[in-house]
Amino acid sequence: MKLVTIVGARPQFIKASPFSAEFRKHNQEILVHTGQHYDENMSEVFFDELSIPRPDYNLGVGSGSHGQQTAKMLEGIENILLDEKPDGLLAYGDTNSTLAGALAASKLHIPVYHVEAGLRSYNKIMPEEQNRVLTDHISDLLLCPTETAVSNLRKEGVIDGVVNTGDIMYDAVLNNISISEHKYSGGKWVDEIRGDNGSISETDKYYLATIHRAENTDDPSKLSIIFEAFASFDKPVILPLHPRTKKLIKSIEINTKNVIIIEPVGYLLMLYLTSNAYMVITDSGGLQKEAYFLKTPCTTLRDQTEWVETLGNEWNVLSRINANEIRSAIRRELTCLSYPQPKTFGDGNASIKICNAILNGG
Ligand code: UD1
Ligand code: UDP
Repeated sequence: MKLVTIVGARPQFIKASPFSAEFRKHNQEILVHTGQHYDENMSEVFFDELSIPRPDYNLGVGSGSHGQQTAKMLEGIENILLDEKPDGLLAYGDTNSTLAGALAASKLHIPVYHVEAGLRSYNKIMPEEQNRVLTDHISDLLLCPTETAVSNLRKEGVIDGVVNTGDIMYDAVLNNISISEHKYSGGKWVDEIRGDNGSISETDKYYLATIHRAENTDDPSKLSIIFEAFASFDKPVILPLHPRTKKLIKSIEINTKNVIIIEPVGYLLMLYLTSNAYMVITDSGGLQKEAYFLKTPCTTLRDQTEWVETLGNEWNVLSRINANEIRSAIRRELTCLSYPQPKTFGDGNASIKICNAILNGG
């Protein structure tokens, strides 16, 4: 089988790693990088660390408004599909690259396979919600990470082609956690955590934070509140800073007390930092789950999450952007640590199940 796979943003490289390895054992994959993310530490580092095959095409679309970025991708992907004539197109997640890939293929009557189908926040303002709902409704195979995702689709009347494969990010974590520990244990991680405003010692406890979602970064006052809360935490906050947030911080006055700001890190270091953090504080979709998989409590700085399974036993707690609410979420008693976690994200073989579903037509 000949498949075109679309990647473009950081979490998609990580999802591609287990799938490409599995699919290419017996099939042909043409990997298309839209160029949505392009900094070395937002793109190249993942291909190197995770041995992801080099893209066959890089559209180099770069940053821009949603319409501009998606339109450039749509045109570029359509040309590739017309040349390559694949049997199907696979897209991951909920970014503009996902929607552009699905739309280009659907218009050409090429079957669309959506990995991470069925997730919903029910907040239509989020660009991710728009992308995932639209992609799901033009997909032929809906590869769901959880039973909740299957049931969300059922409520929208989408039943044919829906398969629960488990979560591909769980495969990625299981494949890489011991490599990460080998690379960074014994204090080897400490040298990497040197920001302009501080460093950390091997025995220090820390919070690990990431912030990049539009809902938190489009409004500077929200970002100020988040940093106000960080300044009062009882342990330092390590913050690998997404370029979107970096751009915003440069343009406003922000109090970075207690925060060690570093460049975005590679996946292996991120896994190590997540696994060893006292708590993760984030608005990332992927990181909420990784914290859960690695049994690190999480506080999510959003009003809702698509990953509702992580909320069980307070492994993950949602907090609105209010300094007192954030402080009380991070000071909660970590009773979750004494509860076992149900296997709601599958068994770590999602990439095999996704391949089988594609090859057997669902
Ligand atoms: C995108 C996804 C979001 C996902 C995130 C993963 C959409 C609508 N959003 O958000 O769902 O959670 O990726 O990280 O697709 N920039 C750089 N260098 C880069 C990439 C981005 O400097 O390599 C800066 C640019 O100023 C750009 C801004 O970051 O304008 C935002 O990038 P963009 O790709 O539009 O959205 P993300 O916020 O990264
Ligand atoms: N990640 C990383 N380095 C970082 C920050 C995040 O490797 O500095 C990884 C993280 O471990 C997860 C993925 O990037 O696997 C999540 O991507 P992101 O938060 O950018 O997007 P989202 O999941 O919210 O769409």
